[in-house]
Amino acid sequence: MDKTPTGSKILDRMLEGGYETDTLTTIYGPAGSGKTNLCLLAGTIVARKKKKVIYIDTEGSFSIERLKQIAPDYKELLNHWVLLKPSTFHEQQRVFEKLNTHLSDNVGLIIVDTIAMLYRLELGKSEDIYEINRELGRQIAYLSGITRKKGIPVLLANQVYADMENRERVKIVGGDILKYGSKCLIELQITRNGNRRAILRKHRSIQEEKQITFKIVEGGIIGTKEANGFRR
Ligand SMILES: Nc1ncnc2c1ncn2[C@@H]1O[C@H](COP(=O)(O)OP(=O)(O)O)[C@@H](O)[C@H]1O
Ligand SMILES: [Mg+2]
Repeated sequence: MDKTPTGSKILDRMLEGGYETDTLTTIYGPAGSGKTNLCLLAGTIVARKKKKVIYIDTEGSFSIERLKQIAPDYKELLNHWVLLKPSTFHEQQRVFEKLNTHLSDNVGLIIVDTIAMLYRLELGKSEDIYEINRELGRQIAYLSGITRKKGIPVLLANQVYADMENRERVKIVGGDILKYGSKCLIELQITRNGNRRAILRKHRSIQEEKQITFKIVEGGIIGTKEANGFRR
């Protein structure tokens, strides 16, 4: 099975080599849990192999400053980096409609940070919820097609909201559309000590619920040891 390294040793170990190249991986968790950091780490390692990284930033959270800390060679890496910044769900739709213009053979990774934030905003102001859900479904289906047929790994970050029925759990924005569309789901939590925990919630070939804890540092992330328990 082809894997693409995550840019972090402990995450590579958890995922037995990295993200799968023929499926969508969704990383979800609350604000500050490390989603953008993991997106940048993955993009960095792919760009370093001189492969194109398509980075769709819907939250304005992409930061050159942060990339610079993670990758001192960031200037060279940016030559392989296509940054697209839709600011409405309609613009996100247009980005997807035109994505094939960027899909030369040399694309090594597609990142969407985050996939359902503009969708969520649009749901809040539109009457036609059915159409918006359908559009998100179309985008996920389109990405699934690309990753399956072209073997380009796709990394999606996603926000969460509280699960009222189970305080220990969170729900993914975009819910089932994303859950079923992604063959790999990784939940990030902020632990009691302010570290981060990554839990493998779904995977085709690795035991689910496998987990690691880590700390976000200047240069990326490093593994830590910590017992169970998390902070909301
Ligand atoms: N240079 C750094 N050193 C340590 N922590 C950092 C550094 N830069 C960012 N962080 C931490 O990363 C966290 C934000 O992570 P991020 O990946 O943006 O979260 P998310 O995308 O899930 O909202 C913040 O807690 C911030 O303090
Ligand atoms: Mg972020």
